[in-house]
Formats: sequence, structure tokens, C-alpha cells
Amino acid sequence: MCGIVGYIGKREAYPIILEGLKRLEYRGYDSAGIALYDDSEIKLSKTKGKVADLEAKAATEISTNGTLGIGHTRWATHGIPNDINSHPHYSNSGNLVIIHNGIIENYESLKKELLKRGYTFKSDTDTEVLINLIEDVKINENVKLGKAVQIALNQVVGAYAIAVFDKKKPNEIVVAKLGSPLAIGIGDEEYFIASDASPFLEYTKKAIYLEDEEMAVISRKKGIKIRKIKNDALVDPYIQELQINLEQIEKGGYEHFMLKEIHEQPNAIKDTYRGRLRAKEGIIKMSGIDDNLERILNANRIIVVACGTSWHAGLVSEYIFENLARIPVEVEYASEFRYRNPVITEKDVVIAISQSGETADTLAAIKLAKSKGAFVFGVCNVVGSTISRETHAGAYTHAGPEIGVASTKAFTTQITVLTLIALKLAKEKGTISNSQFHMQLQELELIPDKVKKALKYDEHIKMVASIYKDAKNCLYLGRGYNFPVALEGALKLKEISYIHAEGYPAAEMKHGPIALIDEQMPVFVIATKKGHYEKVVSNIQEIKSRSGKIIGIVTEGDQDVKYIADHVIEIPETLESLTPLLTTIPLQLLSYHIAVMLGRNVDQPRNLAKSVTVE
Ligand code: G6P
Repeated sequence: MCGIVGYIGKREAYPIILEGLKRLEYRGYDSAGIALYDDSEIKLSKTKGKVADLEAKAATEISTNGTLGIGHTRWATHGIPNDINSHPHYSNSGNLVIIHNGIIENYESLKKELLKRGYTFKSDTDTEVLINLIEDVKINENVKLGKAVQIALNQVVGAYAIAVFDKKKPNEIVVAKLGSPLAIGIGDEEYFIASDASPFLEYTKKAIYLEDEEMAVISRKKGIKIRKIKNDALVDPYIQELQINLEQIEKGGYEHFMLKEIHEQPNAIKDTYRGRLRAKEGIIKMSGIDDNLERILNANRIIVVACGTSWHAGLVSEYIFENLARIPVEVEYASEFRYRNPVITEKDVVIAISQSGETADTLAAIKLAKSKGAFVFGVCNVVGSTISRETHAGAYTHAGPEIGVASTKAFTTQITVLTLIALKLAKEKGTISNSQFHMQLQELELIPDKVKKALKYDEHIKMVASIYKDAKNCLYLGRGYNFPVALEGALKLKEISYIHAEGYPAAEMKHGPIALIDEQMPVFVIATKKGHYEKVVSNIQEIKSRSGKIIGIVTEGDQDVKYIADHVIEIPETLESLTPLLTTIPLQLLSYHIAVMLGRNVDQPRNLAKSVTVE
């Protein structure tokens, strides 16, 4: 995790880096720091806390002039979040300075060696070890900074996206990547460095995404030289034209990114199926599937790997694939899958789901599956992300940038893509009748409007939120397609309000959680008309008779649950397989309003990060 930003060019670097760090705070916000080169000196300021804290501190601590600089926003891995452990880090001589996103796994042995050679360390970080290793190589082998970085990185085990500069050679920045993302924006005699393109979008749409094990020397005068870290081979830069706009990553009048992203779902879902779904003609076109149809149709099973909210989307897809396409599905936490020596064969298709396309565990699971011969299909949101490049084929969700740490539109668009895939496979396999297929397609096309309608109940949801905002524990129940939605509802509440919440399959409640139910316990029950309705109503009765508070997520016009529950929140009616796209909406809004009422930092909840590039 962590966000890195750098600039070298003709403009003042400070405002570019500071603004860039704000855009990258979704990657971590334990501490922030900046180092500028000006007047033969490095001006460095860093602090525990957010970029706003850095802004306040830097203004009093350093002169903010200079046309070269680097900045960092941190999600702590080695060493507690304090001023000293914040990046940038100096080398012992004070000549070199570094920012780093990732983990140096063998830092302890490297540190021991450096200590023996007389190096001292101020922080507990692996990054300070790396910058001193670079310095040691540079001095002992009498090489330029780029070469020193290369030699040092060949001794390193772990992951990194780094940017380094030398105050004795202030016309260049050296960057390198393995495992963590690094983009270089190309302007007119100016270069931008960042973990993603958002910090430089208003300056340039031209970018190079470094590949793993590549490094670049970016020089004010000589431009960019990219090399392979291992064998020193020169790499021809591939310059991409970026498609995203600045407006897409700004709040657009909403108080929080999360709220904006919740409200973007109707359009995001439409964007996801646009060009793919032709309901009238009964066609689903997805090149990633079309081009590999035989391989996918002949799969023995589908294994879904993902983390967090994406894993919940994967769980929904298990119901969709099995019900519609009759393909056996296993859904795995990527972090468990990668370490448990799973049985994978060439007949398996692995679907990796990731909003960011950078999650380290998901990436490792993909590499493992590929090494065993499986066909790996990616469902990612971020175009050009590592996972989208590592997979054999894939489908983007096209949800647009998701900035709020708690995932919302990524979830519903992932479900949309997975539904399209399942329907396409079902059609090809003949496991769905023509009329069912057409009905599914037509109904999917109506989902954006139904999401809009579900969003209209916001005021009522806010009122419900105000009643339960002080709960200490909450239970979320659902069955079938809506069991994963219950998990996701509970996750949303935990993430942003810090209220303990658990999701459970409604019928499992009587095997444990029922013991927790008393008049203090709000229970959010997804009880839509289609989907084990009567059974769920019986579960609601069981909660009622133990004095639990019931909030039912029900189909419009429902009377039965309304009669028993303390509150109901309605969603429009749809096909059972599509209900997760609607039942999710009120649960997102409930968590959002509770978190706001509790004064939480909704977009940047404590301890979390949007993109988890460490295992
Ligand atoms: C982090 C985020 C979650 C996200 C998960 C997986 O934990 O805070 O919102 O669901 O990572 O991320 P991915 O980008 O792979 O979907």
C-alpha cells in the first residue's frame, strides 16, 4: 500500500506533490511526507497523520520551492505510524532520499550487514535499510545512482515501488517497481511519478506503467531510460493515452466519495453492460469470453479468488454460475488459496476479482493458478492494473474510479459482469431456456432504474440509521443469493462505523448467533419476495420472539414482514438472481448514514486502505 508521488520539470513541485498525495490517500493515511530539492539542499518535512497535517507542518518547517521532489502517504507495515517512521527517508550521508511503497522482506539481514559496516538507523522501517544499501553500493562500487539502485535491488526480496534522488545530482529521479504499481506521466520537459495516474491527470494524459522488475532513470535533460533490473536490458517505453478524467475522481457536490459512488451505481451498472448486453437481440458480447469460449466451457469447475468486498461478489457469483450455467464453483479467499497447496488442474478456470487490480494476495493466487496450467480470467475495475495484465483474459467493470475506501459501486458492477458471464455460458451450454435467457437480459437492463428507485428511499434509511446508530453489535441475515449481501452489509458497517457486525445465512442463526439476540440487538434481515421468503419470515419470527429489533429489507408492497418487523426498507421487485444488485443499496446507505452520524471518517476509515498491495 502507500501512495508515492514525484515530480521533475519546470513547475513548482510542492503543490503538484501535495495535491497528488491527497488523491492517493485512499492507499493509506497513517503518515505523510515530502522531500524537495532546492538551492543545493533537500527540504524534507514529514508527519504522522494525514496529508492535511503535512500541509500544515511543511508550511512552517520548510521552504516549499523547488522543481524536483517526492512525496509519500503511508499505510504502516514496518514500524508504528509516527514522524520518524514516515517517508521520505534519508541515507546516512544525507545525500540520498527515498520513498517506498511495499515491503522489503529480507530487510533484517540487510540491516545487520549495514550495521556491521557502521550504518545507523533512525527509524524501524525496511525503507531506511534500502536507502542505506543503495548508498553503500554507490560509495563502494563508485557507480551512479541508477546503477546503485539496480545493484541494491538485486539483493532485495520483497515488493517495491520506489523513487530516489541524490542531492549531488539534482537533475534526475530514479524509480523502480516490483509488485507495487508505478506510473510515469510524460509532460513537456516534465515528468510525474505516481502510484496511479490520478495525481497527474490535469497535466498530461500520456503515461508509462512500469512493469515488474523494471527501473527508470528520469532525467530533466535526457528524458527516460527504462531497464530490466535483473539483466540491465534496455526497454522500449510503451506510452499509453489515458482515458479517465479529473471530474471522475472528484466529489461532484457530494459530501463524501462513498456517497457519490453509491449514487453513481445506476450509471456504473449501465456502463458495465454497455456494448455487451443487447437485450432485444438476445446477445451478450464479451471479447474476453468469446475469444476463449471453448476453454471456459470445457472447464471442470470455476475457482473464484478475491479479497474483501470482491470476495463477496465472488460468493454471489457462485449462486449465479451454479444456478444458471450449472458449472461447479469454489470461492476462495486469495490469501488462503495461495498458501494451502490447492489442487488446480489445466481443466480449471480461475476467476480473479479485484477492484484495484493490485491486491497482493489475489495477484499471488493468480500466479499460482497460472503455474499449474489453469486458465485465469480477471474481473478488474482499474484499467491497465497489474491483475488485468497478469490474467489470460478478462472483463473490466467500467465502474470509474472508486475512491471511498469502503467499496460500493465496484461490488455491484462486479456482480453485473459476473452475471453477464454466467448468462452467456448458460446460453452456450443450453442450461437456460430461451425465454428465461431473454427475461434475464431484459430485467438486467432495468436494474439501473431500479437502483435509482432504491436510492430514493434514502431519507427513510437515514431515519432508520438514526435509531440504530448507537448499537454495539449488529447482525445481518440473508439466504441464497442474499447471504453474501448480508456479509457485505456487515462488512460495510464494520469498516466505516467501527460497530461490530456479523453476517450470517439466516437459517444458520439458530446454530449460534441466536444466543446473542436480545432487545439491544438490531438484526438486518434481507427478506425479498423471491428467494426463500417464507423460510426467512420464519427466521424473523424467531428473532421477534427473542425481542431482537428487526429491520427488514423487503420487496415493495410487502405486508407480512412489515407486520412483524420494527422497520422495513423497500427495494423494487426483480428476478431472484438480480436481487443482490438492489438489496445491497439500502445496506450501503445505512452504513454510510450511521458512520456520518457517529462522526467517523467515512472515506478514510481508520487502519484500512483501498488497495492492499502487501500480503
Ligand atoms: C481492501 C479494501 C476493500 C477491498 C479489498 C479487496 O481491503 O479496503 O474495499 O474489497 O481490499 O480489494 P480489490 O481491489 O482486490 O477488490
